[in-house]
Amino acid sequence: MENEATLEAVESALVKLDLDAKTRLLQGQDMWSLPALPEIGLDSLVMSDGPVGVRGVFWSPDDPSILLPSPTAMAATWDPELVARAGVLLAQEARRKGVHLLLAPTVNMHRTPVGGRHFEAYSEDPFLTGAIGSAYVRGVQSGGVGTTVKHFVANDAETDRFFVDNIVSPNALRELYLAPFETIVRDARPWAIMSAYNSVNGTTMSEHDELLNGILRGEWGFDGCVVSDWMGTRSTVGAILGGLDIAMPGPRSIYGELLAAAVDRGEVDESVVDDAVRRVLLLAARAGVLEGAPAAVTEFPAAVDGRALTRDIARRSFVLARNDARGDAPVLPIDAADTTVALIGLAARDARVLGGGSAMVFPESVISPLDGLTAALPEGALSYSVGATLSDEMGAAERGFELRARCYDADGTLLRELDLPSGMVTWMGTLPEGIDYAALHTIEVLGTFTPRASGSHRFGTKGLGQFTLTVGDETLFEGDQALESTDPFELFFGAPKDRGAVELAAGTPVEVVLKHTPVKMEGSPIDIVSFSLGHREPQQDPEQLMAEAVEAAKQADVAVVVVATTEQVESEGFDRTTLNLPGRQDELVARVAAANPRTVVVVNAGSPVEMPWRNDVAAVLLSWFPGQEAGAALADVLVGLAEPGGRLPTTWPATLADCPVTDVTPVDGKLVYTEDLFIGYRAWDRSDAVPAYPFGHGLGYTSWAYEGVERDGDAISVTVRNTGSRRGREVVQVYLAPVDAEAGRPARALVGFATVEASPGATATATITLPRRAFEIWDESRRSWAHRPGSYDLQVGPSSADRPLTLRIEIVE
Ligand code: BGC
Repeated sequence: MENEATLEAVESALVKLDLDAKTRLLQGQDMWSLPALPEIGLDSLVMSDGPVGVRGVFWSPDDPSILLPSPTAMAATWDPELVARAGVLLAQEARRKGVHLLLAPTVNMHRTPVGGRHFEAYSEDPFLTGAIGSAYVRGVQSGGVGTTVKHFVANDAETDRFFVDNIVSPNALRELYLAPFETIVRDARPWAIMSAYNSVNGTTMSEHDELLNGILRGEWGFDGCVVSDWMGTRSTVGAILGGLDIAMPGPRSIYGELLAAAVDRGEVDESVVDDAVRRVLLLAARAGVLEGAPAAVTEFPAAVDGRALTRDIARRSFVLARNDARGDAPVLPIDAADTTVALIGLAARDARVLGGGSAMVFPESVISPLDGLTAALPEGALSYSVGATLSDEMGAAERGFELRARCYDADGTLLRELDLPSGMVTWMGTLPEGIDYAALHTIEVLGTFTPRASGSHRFGTKGLGQFTLTVGDETLFEGDQALESTDPFELFFGAPKDRGAVELAAGTPVEVVLKHTPVKMEGSPIDIVSFSLGHREPQQDPEQLMAEAVEAAKQADVAVVVVATTEQVESEGFDRTTLNLPGRQDELVARVAAANPRTVVVVNAGSPVEMPWRNDVAAVLLSWFPGQEAGAALADVLVGLAEPGGRLPTTWPATLADCPVTDVTPVDGKLVYTEDLFIGYRAWDRSDAVPAYPFGHGLGYTSWAYEGVERDGDAISVTVRNTGSRRGREVVQVYLAPVDAEAGRPARALVGFATVEASPGATATATITLPRRAFEIWDESRRSWAHRPGSYDLQVGPSSADRPLTLRIEIVE
């Protein structure tokens, strides 16, 4: 609860504001910030994405940030304390960049692996999501920076994400989709929540009175701000009455003048506006930008070494799904002093460190698996080959390009010339100094390209408007480019359009010019200039690539194949239709495994992929999107300097067809959650299909025996013994199974977990407190939680599918 001084400062600021100032304060002044109101001593409050780093207000490599592993990886640590430390690091980054409110964490559910933002959310289980999300919020906010828990609620897929109406039963909504939000609001008290784009049961989330005012504020006591998702608002009166405090971005939004006019017309009572302004002022006070109000945090936590923590989290998140014996020992870890390694895969050189969309940040540097293993192994012990390309799609022009942009007005007067770090131009809200959006007419991206390889280089364009693309003396394209969907953020997603090829020689520079006259989108709340010059290297002969990799694998003691998804596979803005690895990577793994029985496959993907070869290789290590220290962490784990500590936060299916939900295409605008309570392991538990790897699964470098479980009231203690030969860490999981499960209800649910460490031969005891909610189910007829006395089995073990200990308990009224 806030202290008196804060509440007084908020009230005395509020009374000084007229309606115009109040309604201006409820909308962005640009893409990322609220207006300052000097008359009340209020500074501008700055927001930034979230969740794996703090991008800041510029979308550019010029403004780098620490890049943590993907949220799926964070959840795979099953370690709230570690995640809280990541939060402290993020707050440190936010303060460095002048950011007050982080647009994270994403706590939507893994309803299906096809969800495009699966990598950005934590788990298929609401309890694990709530525990990890709470820790993240606690960590960030302990550093004096706010969090915006998103996207409230049921934003579990991307198809038609702005308009889809998700139809969810009261029980599924309460017990699965709202549950992590409820835990986080009650336990960690976030300063803000972001409303989702979608509708739930017929009402769009930025105006959902029942969910925002009724449940979030009324039942759970949320006292923070509700912030809209970007361009996710629909109507002025609906939003303010429905519970939305801040409309983002601005300066042209449904609030501001439109809200003042609605008050003047008597459609909205000014007291409703006052309530929203109070909450924004409270947020500002907490963040330390309201004069006279003490900030929530005045002494910051000790500085965190960002790179060391990022490396540690990555190691702790890697899930060793399989580690088969070869000879008398499992293939991993390898003996660094005495093993030759054939490292294979494009992603081993060009590591995939994060997923696509608004979660993107620009790390200062990235350690690839090739860098990491080169440093970890003796000279001459490592070979590298590409093996297979990942996709035929084009990326933004980067390597070998030296580019600048010249901005002109309609008369051809030069407004500004500036250097570009790549062929991607993303100016949102704030344009580079000296460029006035209204005056800006044409941008010329020009410079040189010096190819690394000779051959046929392809070039392309991405954006909305008119383009002329010239390479050397060839004009490859002259014409208009339009958007292909209704998603206004399409400008940021997807690949450039291929406009043709030019034969170029390695090392010989060529002039490149892309002239672009952007279409200025009518009614857009912000000023946007977003377009790219695309480029694709000449493709090498796929057969030859594969043959080289197979040959290298034959020559080495161990083959390490890094397979990956691409930005065109895992991103915000669209969903997947298949879980296959792109390109010929499956064939690559199969052929390498046939050539070398000690083949280790590292899966560099933020969410599940099909692995048809998984039983034919010696080891499978899931590395998620590991963040900027990817290769260093991978080398640590492969050579055994660290144990892979992760456990699956979500089931990895053998094939998409086996999954409980396989399609997220709305029908007539509606997406019905027909599976009800049965997502994740709740569904797999009643299915005939067996997943590739179950929820909770993950091996370390030692082994464990589950020796005993005891209960004392709400406290459960579990004793495990390290039966292997090295010290290790185990994630002890407790599932609760009603002895006579009611029809239509899952057989079991995760109700607790704890990590323990022990040396060889030693025992350790995990202590887990059972939450009261474990014995409750939602009763819609009474609109309350109903306590369920009766007999339950506490099932304890290392995964949802492996529960060696059971303790029968009786719960009384
Ligand atoms: C995303 C949000 C993000 C916002 C700002 C939206 O498209 O859904 O998660 O915070 O953009 O980048």
